[in-house]
Amino acid sequence: MTVHFIGAGPGAPDLLTLRGRDLIAACPVCLYAGSLVPEAVLAHCPPDAKIVNTASLDLDAIVAEIKMATKAGQDVARLHSGDLSVWSAMGEQLRRLKSEGIDFTVTPGVPAFAAAAAALGSELTLPGVAQSVVLTRTPGRASSMPDDETLENFAATGATLAIHLSIGNLAYVISALTPKYGGDCPVAVVFRASWPDERIHRATLASLEETLDKDITRTALILVGPALAADGFAESCLYAPDYDRRYRPQTADSPWASWSHGDD
Ligand SMILES: C[S@@+](CC[C@H](N)C(=O)[O-])C[C@H]1O[C@@H](n2cnc3c(N)ncnc32)[C@H](O)[C@@H]1O
Repeated sequence: MTVHFIGAGPGAPDLLTLRGRDLIAACPVCLYAGSLVPEAVLAHCPPDAKIVNTASLDLDAIVAEIKMATKAGQDVARLHSGDLSVWSAMGEQLRRLKSEGIDFTVTPGVPAFAAAAAALGSELTLPGVAQSVVLTRTPGRASSMPDDETLENFAATGATLAIHLSIGNLAYVISALTPKYGGDCPVAVVFRASWPDERIHRATLASLEETLDKDITRTALILVGPALAADGFAESCLYAPDYDRRYRPQTADSPWASWSHGDD
């Protein structure tokens, strides 16, 4: 029997991979992280599925549910929000499953930062403006941060920052980033990207705290960096008419002219 870890996406039930949807539909048991995975996603479960919200369970209780299902010959769909590679607590569950000899698979999902960028209609890496996106967070009650993973250190790069789990730490976010990015640096807060009640707030580092709706206290992503409002950026070489490249050799003596698609 197998436990299928599935990235359930940012919230909208149609922002799942087809593989994820099909696995959910095939599993008689579904464990979902109900603090972030909305019930609408559970519509993909079979009608008679056993559905368990793990928001109030500790790790031992979650593993007990999994063991009960697999011993009874049932596959399990294990849903976490967004993608599983960041802040999913999958790592500790996999460690337990490995020690119990329980098989598992991992199916990626649409991460919240990508859904937030889509809601903004923004590319986070613009030529000459920002070529890196830092997925990070600030310390919380349950999680400290490694010493060097500070916002101040990430700010030193000038990259686009996608700050998770931090809407309650707004004052710190602003004070840590303003010295490097400046008060006029564009910021966007996306609350519940892809949910029916999604909200977008655009501001600058200087105006953010004063202008953000006070009821946005969770499930929000803070995006910071010049790419969020850049307009005069250069076009990429990739699609420039005279750019000589493998898929579009410009002359007969281009090094790419004799390349065939089979070569790569
Ligand atoms: C525990 S982390 C989960 C991240 C998730 N694994 C991912 O791939 O995006 C939860 C944080 O992700 C962000 N988040 C998750 N879903 C979101 C959404 N639909 N809209 C905005 N932010 C979201 C928020 O910053 C929230 O505090």
